[in-house]
Amino acid sequence: MKRRKFLKNSTTGTAALVATPLMVSCKNEKTTASLSESDQVPIKPIAVCTWNFQNATAKAWDVLKIGGSALDAVEQGVMVEEADVTNETVGKGGRPDRDGHVTLDACIMDKDGNCGAVVYLKNITHPVSVARKVMEETPHIILAGKGAEKFAYEQGFKKEDLLTESTRKQYEEWKKTSKYETTINIENHDTIGMLAIDKNGDIAGACTTSGMAYKVAGRVGDSPIIGAGLYVDNEVGGATATGVGEEVIRTVGSFLIVELMRQGKSPQEACEEGVRRIMKKNEGREDFQIGFLAINKQGETGGYCVHPGFSYQKYDPSGHGNVVSNSFY
Ligand code: GLY
Repeated sequence: MKRRKFLKNSTTGTAALVATPLMVSCKNEKTTASLSESDQVPIKPIAVCTWNFQNATAKAWDVLKIGGSALDAVEQGVMVEEADVTNETVGKGGRPDRDGHVTLDACIMDKDGNCGAVVYLKNITHPVSVARKVMEETPHIILAGKGAEKFAYEQGFKKEDLLTESTRKQYEEWKKTSKYETTINIENHDTIGMLAIDKNGDIAGACTTSGMAYKVAGRVGDSPIIGAGLYVDNEVGGATATGVGEEVIRTVGSFLIVELMRQGKSPQEACEEGVRRIMKKNEGREDFQIGFLAINKQGETGGYCVHPGFSYQKYDPSGHGNVVSNSFY
């Protein structure tokens, strides 16, 4: 509800932001490697995230504007949504699996290609920060389930009940019919994926989610899978995804989009091609939503989705606003 309301209310205030990035990014087909000295654009810090999570981009901007790193910006940005119990798709307050357990997936990736992830993590509000600890404090990349939870406690994270009164009630209702359907654009796939560029021109990304509501216990989506829900290559750009994770994993969506940008596509063109690849594998199927968001080294952005309704939030020196994405259908 929150997202829809915001889109409705924000159309006039963000009209310029809505139009500008698409026009600019579609024209630019240069790769980083092909830019000459005179083509180099000044570094412009920027934070973008999936959907209209404006508090998250505002937090990321607070970090970037005082010269903080892109890595700190994306971590602190997505933590806002992880802590927001009214956001029922991320962190504490996320909807549970079909057994009534809230299980969280998250990952983070830095400018040097270092990355960390946690999957099927219970009882911890900030999986993205545990993922960062995995990246920085262990020789591993992914920790799962009980092992990830034990590691989190060792790192000083505290145990919390992630189910709220609201999500508990919804779960009790759901159990009465126990339908398990992926539904277009409903509020149960609003993963937050965030990408940022800092004052040094370095890129980082983070992605965090409670996954599909009422998923089969043990299910892991695309969000913590490096290359699927998130990918960053500091020479080229970054990409992240939201929506039905199984489809994103099947195309290694975020990696695909970064590689398309490396080959010369703009972020917008790369996101469009990413969605087209998914649709090719799903001919005739319309019952799911995917949204891709990408940024290149020059700070140009793009977003594209299967069905209307996806948007992304953008904060850079020219302002803060919501960009409505075009869609395949
Ligand atoms: N994209 C989130 C998920 O499928 O879990």
